[in-house]
Amino acid sequence: MIDPSQVHSTLSRHQLADGYSVVMDLERSRGIYLHDAHSGDDYMDLFTSFASWPIGYGHPLMADEAFQRDLAVVASTKVANSDLYTTYMAEFVEAFSTRVTPEGYPHHFWVSGGALAVENALKVAFDWKAHKIGLNKIGDGEGLCALHFEGAFHGRTGYTMSLTNTDPRKVALFPKFDWPRVSAPAVEVDLQGHVSNDVAALEAQTLAEIDAAFADPRYKDRIACIVIEPLQGEGGDNHFRPEFLGSLRKICDEREALLIFDEVQTGFFGSGKAWLWQHHGVAPDVVAFGKKTQVCGIYANSRVDEVPENVFRVSSRINSTWGGNLVDMVRCKRFIEIIEAENLAANITRVGQVFLEGLRTIAQDQGHFANVRGCGSLVAFTLASVSLRDEMLEALYAKKVMALSSGKRTLRFRLPLVMTAAEAGEALTRIADSTPARV
Ligand SMILES: Cc1ncc(COP(=O)(O)O)c(C=O)c1O
Repeated sequence: MIDPSQVHSTLSRHQLADGYSVVMDLERSRGIYLHDAHSGDDYMDLFTSFASWPIGYGHPLMADEAFQRDLAVVASTKVANSDLYTTYMAEFVEAFSTRVTPEGYPHHFWVSGGALAVENALKVAFDWKAHKIGLNKIGDGEGLCALHFEGAFHGRTGYTMSLTNTDPRKVALFPKFDWPRVSAPAVEVDLQGHVSNDVAALEAQTLAEIDAAFADPRYKDRIACIVIEPLQGEGGDNHFRPEFLGSLRKICDEREALLIFDEVQTGFFGSGKAWLWQHHGVAPDVVAFGKKTQVCGIYANSRVDEVPENVFRVSSRINSTWGGNLVDMVRCKRFIEIIEAENLAANITRVGQVFLEGLRTIAQDQGHFANVRGCGSLVAFTLASVSLRDEMLEALYAKKVMALSSGKRTLRFRLPLVMTAAEAGEALTRIADSTPARV
């Protein structure tokens, strides 16, 4: 066994290893604390592996014997799930489709990776639109495109790189499609949580840009979908009003486009509901999910069935060898059971609110950050400059708190769903001690 002190140097000999300085100890990490096998320190995990680990570490219900036995069985054979079916897969699909997917979404597709989930959501839309406008069945899609937003992050695969526009390093030099991109009318809030910017004016501007895109000869009759994160994560934790998402719904209905929500970062109870869109009451046609769900994928409503030969009916239009990962499926099913048994959605709604209000109090007392916003586990605030934000992230790490940057000046948290109010209090103390004036 390699000694923890040798982990980074070993990795560095063979690959880029510029991740965190900690060496994660899978056996000694507990609850919201990630144990560093190298230093022996415990870090408060307020980033949850980029919003991908929902229930804290070493959760006692994960030790369940039957679950551990199932896990060992499915870990021993990697199954090509798209074409070889197992009882384990059927149990997972039944659990997810009836207890996590909302009513009205009969179609599912599973794949490994969030970007590939988005990529396949786009393919659903391109195929649907191609049939709608009568494109030749063996043609190449002839200019079909996806309307998307400034500040979007949808991943780093072929199609998704044409949408992602946060850090230019992530997409520069790679060939991309010139697809319509419009401004993102984000809400800003004051320290009482009231909207503090003229968001209606921003929305009107965006809607005018969307109108122009639909009329643009380059995209006319070719916009297959509008794709949006209902809360832009990497782009700056940008929240949108339900009124705006409702306008997108209306445009998609009127213009024969599918409305796709990318909930890779926000889905699976992170907001306190299974899906963030349920807070807004605006139902999309297709949802891409990943991260906390472990196995990634999409669910879709019956609008795709307006085209009888859609990708959910015709074999091999969307597919992959593994069709997701059976270990992830079994683990996800256990998460569903634990989240239900411990009522973790209600827990993070309550604790997230405590955390949010605590941050607003710190902001009021100290004046070092503003626009404190959030929903359940998804909480963020904005500092005055990039350097102050980066300085604060470093100060937090020195105080053994793991958080994330977002957009240009924002610091974001992705809280574990199991976090208690007392732990939120401890986190707030460390945050108050890490603001730029204190470091
Ligand atoms: C909103 C969103 N979409 C897509 C992705 C891509 O997911 P993955 O990194 O699993 O490919 C991410 C990852 O951060 C994301 O936040």
